[in-house]
Amino acid sequence: MKAESAKGSGELNMVWQPLDIGATQVRNRTMMTAMGVFYGEDHILSDRHIAYYRARAKGGVGLMITEQQAGHRLSKGSFFAGCTAWEKRAIPQYEKLADAVHAEGARQFVQLFGCGVHDKGTMILDEWHPLWGISDIPSVVHREIPRVMGKTELADIAKGFGEAANNVKHAGLDGVELHAAHSYLFGQVLSPAYNTRTDEYGGSTAKRCRLIVDVAEEIRARVGDDFTLGIRLSYDEYLGEAGITPEQADEQVEILTATGCFDFFNITRGSYHTLHMAIPPMGSPHGGYQEFGQRARKITGNRAKIFLVGRVTGLHEAETVLESGAADMVAMTRAQFADPELVNKTREGRTDEIIHCVAANECVARIFDNRPATCLVNPATGRETRWGPGTLESVTPKEKKKIVIVGGGLGGMKTAAVASARGHEVVLLERSIELGGHINLLKRLPSRSEWQLAIDDLTGAMNRGGVTIKLGFEADTNSILAETPDCAVIAAGARWRLDGVSPFRPGVSGIDGLDQEHVIDISSATERALDDPASLGQSVVILDEIGTFLPLGLADLLSQQEGINVEIITPDPMVGMEAQKTLDSYHLLPRLVAAGVKLTTQQNLRAVEGRDVVSGFSWGGPERRVQDIDTIIVAMLREPVDALYHALEGMINERHLLGDALAPRKPVQVMYEAEELGRAI
Ligand SMILES: Cc1cc2nc3c(=O)[nH]c(=O)nc-3n(C[C@H](O)[C@H](O)[C@H](O)COP(=O)(O)O)c2cc1C
Ligand code: SF4
Repeated sequence: MKAESAKGSGELNMVWQPLDIGATQVRNRTMMTAMGVFYGEDHILSDRHIAYYRARAKGGVGLMITEQQAGHRLSKGSFFAGCTAWEKRAIPQYEKLADAVHAEGARQFVQLFGCGVHDKGTMILDEWHPLWGISDIPSVVHREIPRVMGKTELADIAKGFGEAANNVKHAGLDGVELHAAHSYLFGQVLSPAYNTRTDEYGGSTAKRCRLIVDVAEEIRARVGDDFTLGIRLSYDEYLGEAGITPEQADEQVEILTATGCFDFFNITRGSYHTLHMAIPPMGSPHGGYQEFGQRARKITGNRAKIFLVGRVTGLHEAETVLESGAADMVAMTRAQFADPELVNKTREGRTDEIIHCVAANECVARIFDNRPATCLVNPATGRETRWGPGTLESVTPKEKKKIVIVGGGLGGMKTAAVASARGHEVVLLERSIELGGHINLLKRLPSRSEWQLAIDDLTGAMNRGGVTIKLGFEADTNSILAETPDCAVIAAGARWRLDGVSPFRPGVSGIDGLDQEHVIDISSATERALDDPASLGQSVVILDEIGTFLPLGLADLLSQQEGINVEIITPDPMVGMEAQKTLDSYHLLPRLVAAGVKLTTQQNLRAVEGRDVVSGFSWGGPERRVQDIDTIIVAMLREPVDALYHALEGMINERHLLGDALAPRKPVQVMYEAEELGRAI
């Protein structure tokens, strides 16, 4: 399915059907799989969590599964704010969650997980511990060598999960899911990549399933049959024979179904080594991992229900998945992280109001940084009490202002949308003939077309608020004052610096040679490459000190042309440090390398001498010289475009600087600020 089908059309039928999953009846076939948001306080669910889940229940979703919760005492330390289900003190917040979600007609399961080796044994000050591994292979990320579990530890794990499931049941929630995917504890147990045991817990698929069978039997012994239990499985780890293959996953489903313990199988894919397959970034196909759902369904028959996930972004896509027979429940996880009302907006024919997830994976990048997850396109996510549905306050006729906003990038558009929805009169002036600002450039790069959805959504919101949009309009103080505004917002963005000043070169006030004609900034270079790639010549060097998608995307575009040699030089330890956190690098870097792009790391720029780029190892040492470059592209610092704001001093009662024009930052920060300002004016 293509991204465009996210908007969809046609009849929805299957998606509205209720379903029995074990002891649980859900009102429709839509769901959210577990998503670690890390709003926990003192390692239990917070009121912020509850407001977040309540908003989605109110928005119409049938079933939600909480973020991963530790099923055992050693498992909450993989993320700093990770929560426990194992401790009794988790119960009161679970009770609150059950009340909140049930009051809105949805159902809520808890995902129980163990970290295994994907943990940090020193995360929590008073709970340092050696990691428990199924074998002695450490995490490729954390690299702590674990203690290999013996019979006592394995039995302790089963006991812990039984206790945790019992806590969830006791609190009145609807069921639990064992997280056996994405290389967490039970994923490690199932995968030959981690489980190299030769006793009764390793050596064959059946033996690798044994701990999970022990755990499931313990849970059933504690909670009985009238409580829903399921499991999440990765159908392919994309490690070849080294990891779980679809054939092994088939066997797992057969073995686990035969236990009679499981009411559902929640099918996903990917591992810690291949997280980009688990949480597909922008440009990935839509429509769920249907092949895997179908395989699992063939095995379970009517013995268990199948849940399926994978870049399903709207109910029409979900309907198609249900029609294909690949699933009983369809997850739209990030899609509902972005818009809690996705289901109800669709049901009520308000699809134009949907805020679409564009798979920019800012939510993922944030949790990799050990920060609570937020959404780039919707600043209200995670801030439901403050900004969630129903919190926008209209202005009285007396409070109504005329606001002129200069700049039609994300920040300007979002402020215009929010302020106009409150009843202000808003005029937006944009220099270019298109809305979108910096995003307009990104969206034209390979794999980035979904950015257009973000522009369309904000344009729609501005239109609903009656914003007057003037494109191709170069604003100055006169034209702003001619609108007789009560308030001006300058959101004119930022420009690239070409002086070579950089935090990588303390004390250096500039780099010689950057003022030559064949040295250009990354945005200008991308514009030129999009129009005529050959205009950049045959040899191109990108000096990348930002690590985001843009330099990689430009290299991707250029490398698809015949006869252009591209080298990316960065002082960072790897190319695309930020793009790795959004999982874009995993797709992009192999493509770049295959296309012959040279990736040079830990090289700090020293000079540009004519057509030569001179750099040196970041920590000192001899120089490196790349010769005869046709175009040298600079992606370093940016500076605010704020002259208009200063020029308006004393001319207008109220003026604001917004977004990159205030300080050049990430779009997610700009959107936050825009929401805040749109509500404050
Ligand atoms: C920020 C973030 C955190 C996630 N945390 C979990 C988790 O705790 N447990 C889990 O099984 N999957 C987790 N996932 C994977 C999602 O459940 C889901 O499989 C993935 O986002 C793909 O589905 P989607 O395209 O509908 O978003 C997470 C995904 C994201 C984006
Ligand atoms: S941050 Fe990006 S990927 Fe995550 S939900 Fe929001 S739009 Fe989707």
